Amino acid sequence: MALPRCLPAGYLSGLLFLILWLAGTGTSTSAPADATAVEALRRLKGMDLEANPTLKSAVLRVLEGLRGAPEFVEVVRDFQLTGQEDGLLEVARRHPDATGGAEAMRLLLGQGAEARIRLAWTAPGGGDAVIRALSNSGDSKALPLLVEVATNHSVSASARASAVQGLARSESGARELLRLAEGGGLDDAARGTASLALAQARWPAIREEALKRLPLPKAGDGTSLPPLSELVTLTGDAARGAVVFRSESVACIRCHRVGDEGVDFGPALGQIGSKLGRQALYESILDPSAGISFGYEGWTVETKDGEEVFGIMASETAEELAIKQQTGVLTRVPVAKVARREKQGLSVMPAGLAQTMTREQLVDLVEYLLSLKAPASP
Ligand code: HEC
Repeated sequence: MALPRCLPAGYLSGLLFLILWLAGTGTSTSAPADATAVEALRRLKGMDLEANPTLKSAVLRVLEGLRGAPEFVEVVRDFQLTGQEDGLLEVARRHPDATGGAEAMRLLLGQGAEARIRLAWTAPGGGDAVIRALSNSGDSKALPLLVEVATNHSVSASARASAVQGLARSESGARELLRLAEGGGLDDAARGTASLALAQARWPAIREEALKRLPLPKAGDGTSLPPLSELVTLTGDAARGAVVFRSESVACIRCHRVGDEGVDFGPALGQIGSKLGRQALYESILDPSAGISFGYEGWTVETKDGEEVFGIMASETAEELAIKQQTGVLTRVPVAKVARREKQGLSVMPAGLAQTMTREQLVDLVEYLLSLKAPASP
């Protein structure tokens, strides 16, 4: 058989898999796609479906079997399929806090589907999840929609809180929040969320501005912290510290895992008490940028269409960068779309955390971290 030389071997095996899979499922259109079919499509990635109507209908059939699963988004993205708004929204609703849901939102925003997204959050059931996925998308095109939600009193308070948190994650969104707070556009609950989120923002000017305009609800105790040399002589209560670690306002758990709990963004802390002593623990909370753990450096990646992604470089291939954002969600940027990338001297862990707790809470928190030890070896 004469094969066109330009066709990479991966395509051929992909096609073969797909043909075998389709033969195995007969003509049923509702067959759930299995791993083989998905793998076949991965190999065919980038093929021009418009030039291959048979392949296109095969791909659409596999897609139908993937409804609601993160792989649905992958197929829509890889083959640049349009008209899949319902399916993308379904993934967003089912996986709002995972990479699949966030990526579904980015595809929808990239296709100008704002009106559909708006309809999805006003429809009964699943509206909150759609807004969470939107807020996790890290896409600048989401900002106007998040502003709409943050100031809209007919959506639930929890949806408004996720919109506010989403805004606080980008510099322009954070500025927008400050403007809203100034203009009285946020109600009390949203102001509380905004003040906590902005106190941990990574732009010092915004943090300062926020502390002035949106004072923390129970910020510290107003007193300044004693010097480190004195802090290390204090003992706290580890059980109370465990509560601080998980509290809404301090929320170390939003970036760190302890056992099975928490978000996989920063290093796991389940055995941190065996690694760092009291002084080092204070330093890593009060001044995270002073010693950034290897592999956890922050990166800013700017794309050619003007998006900015900030996070930890989770993986890098010749084709694609994957950046892990603070939510634990991955953003994939094709290398061909990267305009600029820069390693940041700043830690991805916010510097303002000590300002979100009282001195007593800080001492309790460090006591708790010290208590997280590796099991003693027999
Ligand atoms: C926005 C996400 C984020 C939040 C919130 C956060 N951290 Fe971190 N943390 C990180 C990242 C990323 C690192 C690794 C980079 C570095 O060392 O600065 C880190 C590092 C650390 C380390 C050093 C770990 C090691 O193995 O050396 C400690 C200890 C720590 N964090 C404790 C805390 C505590 C306690 C809180 C809550 C007060 C907290 N973190 C909140 C992201 C976060």
